[in-house]
Amino acid sequence: MRLTSRLSISLIASVAVVSLAFAYAQMRASRRGLDRELGRHALVLAETLSKSAQPLLKNHSYRDLERLVDQFENREQIAGVVVLNMAGEPVAVSSRLAPRLDNYPEPVRQALQDGLTHAGFVSLGGDPLHVIAMPLRDEPLVIGVLAIFHDAAYIQQQSAALWRRALIGVAIQTFLIALITLLTIRIGIARPLKRTTEWLRELRTGTEPHASEMPQKGEFAPLTREASQLASSLREARAAAEREAHLRESAESNWTAERLRVFVRGRLGGDHLVAVSNREPYEHVHRDNTIQCRVPASGLVTALEPVLCACEGTWIAQATGDADRETVNEAGRVRVPPENNQYTLRRVWLTQEEEQGFYFGFANEGLWPLCHIAHTRPIFRSSDWEAYHTVNQHFAAAVLEEIAREESPVVLAQDYHFALLPRMVKQRRPDARVAIFWHIPWPNPEAFGICPWQRELLDGLLGADLIGFHIQAHCNNFLDTVDRSLECRIDREHFFITRDGHRTLVQPFPISVAVDHVETPIHNTELPHLERAGLLAKLGVRATYMGVGVDRIDYTKGIPERFRAIERFLENCPAYRNEFTFVQIGSPSRTHITRYQDLMQEVTEEAERINRRFQTGNWKPIVLLTRQHSHQEILPYYRTADVCVVTSLHDGMNLVAKEFVAARHDDQGVLVLSRFAGASHELADALVVNPYDVEELSQALHRALEMSPEERGIRMQRMRAVVKERNIYRWAGSLIGELCAIRTAAPRKPTLVRSVVNWP
Ligand code: F6P
Repeated sequence: MRLTSRLSISLIASVAVVSLAFAYAQMRASRRGLDRELGRHALVLAETLSKSAQPLLKNHSYRDLERLVDQFENREQIAGVVVLNMAGEPVAVSSRLAPRLDNYPEPVRQALQDGLTHAGFVSLGGDPLHVIAMPLRDEPLVIGVLAIFHDAAYIQQQSAALWRRALIGVAIQTFLIALITLLTIRIGIARPLKRTTEWLRELRTGTEPHASEMPQKGEFAPLTREASQLASSLREARAAAEREAHLRESAESNWTAERLRVFVRGRLGGDHLVAVSNREPYEHVHRDNTIQCRVPASGLVTALEPVLCACEGTWIAQATGDADRETVNEAGRVRVPPENNQYTLRRVWLTQEEEQGFYFGFANEGLWPLCHIAHTRPIFRSSDWEAYHTVNQHFAAAVLEEIAREESPVVLAQDYHFALLPRMVKQRRPDARVAIFWHIPWPNPEAFGICPWQRELLDGLLGADLIGFHIQAHCNNFLDTVDRSLECRIDREHFFITRDGHRTLVQPFPISVAVDHVETPIHNTELPHLERAGLLAKLGVRATYMGVGVDRIDYTKGIPERFRAIERFLENCPAYRNEFTFVQIGSPSRTHITRYQDLMQEVTEEAERINRRFQTGNWKPIVLLTRQHSHQEILPYYRTADVCVVTSLHDGMNLVAKEFVAARHDDQGVLVLSRFAGASHELADALVVNPYDVEELSQALHRALEMSPEERGIRMQRMRAVVKERNIYRWAGSLIGELCAIRTAAPRKPTLVRSVVNWP
C-alpha cells in the first residue's frame, strides 16, 4: 500500500476515534447535567411535599395523605408518590404507582433504615425512574418516609438523541477533515514527492533534468538542496567515468582536450603549470573609445592556447596592448579567455629600450635570421645582448614568483626569446621541472657558430631538463652545436646531454593545432563554390578558382617567391587568367625592423606589378590583405580555397599548413607545401615543393588546380588523419609527460622569492 494511502487511512481512523471520544464525553456530561437537574427538582419537590405530609402522617390522616399524593401524581414527569410508616408499610400511595410497587428500591430502604434522605436511579418494571426518599419527622422522631418517583426515560431519550447527533457530526467532521487532509497531502506532499522522484529518475537515466522542476519552497527546500548537490556529484562522477572510458577507448589513438586535462592532472598530481612566452595570447587595446581584446597573429599562441585551457595553469607573457595595464589586477594578472576564463595570464612590462634590444634586436635581428636559413644576415649588438639577458631575468623572476609557493612546479618556456631563462630558474629552484620548446629551426653548427654569445645561449638552454624541437633534424643540429662548443657529455643513443652533473633530454615534439572532433558534414558540394564566390565578391573580384596564403609578412615565409610562381603559372597556363585569384592574407609583423619594412614594400610592389600585368575588368591575380585577420575571418578562406600555398624558405613547423587541413571537413582542397617547413615531414600528401624553384612551384599550382576530386579527397583524408592524430593535445601530452618523467632535485619547501633574486 502506498505511503499516502496508509497515511490517509490512519489519519481518518485517528480523527474518527478522537471525534467519537469527544462526542461521548459531551453526551455523558449532558446526561450528568440532566440527572443533576432531575435530582435537584426532585429534592425541592420532596421538601415541599414533606412539609404537607408530615402533620398528616403524625395525625394519622391517611385519607388526606392519599389525596395529597394523588394530587402530585399528575404533575409533569412524576411517576408516583408513596408515604411509608416506619414499619415500611405504605400509608398512602398514588394510584398509578401502586401496581408497580412490589418491593421498595434501595434509596427507600436506606431512608427507612438510617432516617436520612437518599436518592438514585432505579428500574421499576423495566422503566427507568428516579427516586428520592425523604424521612418524615415528628421531632425528634422519624415517623415515616416520603418517596417521590420521577420518570427518567426522557433523560435516556435526550441522551440517545444527543448521541445520534454527535455521531452524525463526527461522521461529517471526519469526512471533511479526511478530505482536506487528503488534498493537502496530495498537493503539498505527494506531488512534490512525485516531482522529486521523476527528477531523480531522469538524473539516474542520464537525461539532464532541470533544477527548477524540483520543489523549491517550504519543507522541501532542504531536500531539493541536498538532491541538487547529489545530482552535481553524480554528474561529476558520471563525467569522470565517461572521460575515463573515453580515454581507455582512445588510449592509443586521438588526444583531446579532455584526455590532455586528465593526463596532465595525473602527471602533475596537483603541481602548478607555468608557461612563458614573449607573445601574449590576448592583448587589450583601445579602439573606438572602448577596450577591445584581440588574439595576436602567432603560431605559438594558436598552439599553446588550447593547452593552457586544458591545464588551467598560468601563462607569463609580455604586455603588448596599449590597454593591457587597465585590464589586470595589481599583480599583473588577468583571467582569460575573456568569454570563458580558464587560466591566468600574467603580464610582464618591458621598457621601450628593453623591448627594442630584447625583442626587435637580439631575438628578431639576431637569433631569428641566425636560425632560419633565409639569407638575411643576422645582426648582433652587445646592447641587444644585454637587453636580452636583462629581459630573461625579468621573466625568470616572474616565473619564480609564480612558483614560489609550489612544490615541484612544471615550467614550459617557449621559444628563442628565452634561451637563458631555464638556467636562471633552475639555479633558484632545482626541484622545478623546466622544459623549453624551440619553435624555430636549429641550424647546423657552422651557421649557429657565428653568434658571439653561442656558448652563453647553449649554457642557458642546458639549464632545462628537457629541450624540444619540432623535428629530429633540429635535435641533431642542436647536439652537434653543443658538441662543438661546450664541455659536456652527449649520449646520442638516448639524446641526453650532461653538463656539470645536470642532464638534459633533447627530443622532437612536432607541434600542431587543435582539431575539431565534431565534423560538420558537407552534403551540398555547391556550397564551397558559393561561399568562395561570395568571399571574392566582397574583395571586389570575380574568379572561378581561389588560392590562399596566410602568413605574417616575414622574409622566411617566401611570399615574393610565391607571387613570382603565380606570375609564372599565369604565363604558362593562360587559361587560368581571369579564372584564378590568389588571396594573400599577410599580417604585418615586427614592423620596427628595417628588413620587415623593406619586405612589406617588396611584397606590396610585387603584387601590384603582377596585378598590373594581368588584371582585367573585375578580375586580378593577387589580392593582398595586409591587416591582421582573426582565425574566424581566415576560416572561410581555408574552407573554400582550391589550394593553400605555404612556401616557407625555412620554418620550424608552420601551422598554417595544419590549420588548412584541419579546416577541410569536405576532404577537398590541395596543400602546396615547402619542403623546408617542418610540417612537410608529416604532411607527405601535400604537393611538396622547393619554394626557391619558381618553375616547380608554378607547376605545383597548376597540378593542384587540375587534380581530380578523387585524388584531392584521398590526399586530404590522409593529411587529416595525420593532423587529427598528431594534434596539439598530443604535442602537449608528450612534452609534459616526458618532462614529468624526469627526476629532479628533491622538492624544497617553497618560499617567497619576490624581489630577492640576485643574478650572477
Ligand atoms: O615561429 C616562431 C614564432 O615565435 C612563432 O611561435 C610565432 O608564431 C611567431 O614567431 C610570431 O612572432 P612574433 O611573436 O614575433 O610576432
